[in-house]
Amino acid sequence: MTWLITGGAGYIGAHVVRAMTAAGERVVVYDDLSTGIAARVPEGVPLVVGSTLDAERLARTLADHSVTGVVHLAAKKQVGESVERPLHYYRENVEGLRVLLDAVTAADVRSLVFSSSAAVYGMPDVDLVTEETPCEPLSPYGETKLAGEWLVRATGRATGLSTASLRYFNVAGAADPELADTGVYNLVPMVFERLTEAAPPSVFGDDYPTPDGTCVRDYIHVVDLAEAHVAAARVLRSSPGRDLTLNIGRGEGVSVREMIDRINAVTGHDRPPAVLPRRPGDPARVVASADRAAAELGWKARLDVQDMITSAWEGWVRLHPEARRG
Ligand SMILES: NC(=O)c1ccc[n+]([C@@H]2O[C@H](COP(=O)([O-])OP(=O)(O)OC[C@H]3O[C@@H](n4cnc5c(N)ncnc54)[C@H](O)[C@@H]3O)[C@@H](O)[C@H]2O)c1
Repeated sequence: MTWLITGGAGYIGAHVVRAMTAAGERVVVYDDLSTGIAARVPEGVPLVVGSTLDAERLARTLADHSVTGVVHLAAKKQVGESVERPLHYYRENVEGLRVLLDAVTAADVRSLVFSSSAAVYGMPDVDLVTEETPCEPLSPYGETKLAGEWLVRATGRATGLSTASLRYFNVAGAADPELADTGVYNLVPMVFERLTEAAPPSVFGDDYPTPDGTCVRDYIHVVDLAEAHVAAARVLRSSPGRDLTLNIGRGEGVSVREMIDRINAVTGHDRPPAVLPRRPGDPARVVASADRAAAELGWKARLDVQDMITSAWEGWVRLHPEARRG
């Protein structure tokens, strides 16, 4: 069985490629390199450079490599950019998926794992977010992920394609410094950037109804996340006709202030944060119930926030050597 990993040259995709190959799966990467890096694709793994909007290239790739399973990570992922360029996001994330599903159903593909996001929930007003918590995305990015889940589910029901939509919570860390996230869109790299500039990390609001007043999130190590894909791929292969929607988190909330304290400790800095006004649309608390993923996949996160910060920092100083103190 060969798995096509779309977006396999990206941050998470590169980790999924490694986890799948380590588990003995054959993989092919399909990526347009718009934000991906070809050097992240390991030697021996074929890389097809193409867009998910290119129906012909997709069909040829599925046939040439006798693909029977797909992990679809290729997408645009910046919430702010999606507000400014909604049509671009709908085209890349929704139309790109529709074209892929067209090719998949015309080929001999039986399983598909889809990268969804906790962004589908919007502002959940619950202690632990379950898969039954209503989905009310706040951004075009979150909307494209929810629409993607609908497309995937409807296609599975109509064709028998076995599907899993994995709703990732806040992803951090790296298996290797070379695979670290190069973007500065999440809290961990944003704090690293401020520390590198000798500036105080920013906290957006400290008057939320949380224990220390700052927002609480559920951070998941990218290595654990990649293992969830391996587990999902196995389950889909062994039970045709599945239709899974699963939260992928640790089920543990960590506040922004706590993360900044831990980052200061790991990096050897001692910079208290600057408190700024709340940002519109930031929910107070988003923490997963990861029970369903444990029950359905037999998967559970093993690595903690310390592992995430330490490994992410190694990747950061590789690109920004000036960040290391002393
Ligand atoms: N990073 C996170 O915290 C997070 C959280 C929730 C969900 N996700 C989802 O996980 C997936 C991977 O995210 P990432 O953080 O690795 O981002 P990334 O930008 O590093 O990876 C995306 C990859 O997809 C490729 N790509 C983008 N559009 C494409 C297209 N139309 N055709 C072919 N290739 C295309 C890019 O070149 C890149 O290699 C995305 O679907 C994202 O929405 C990420």
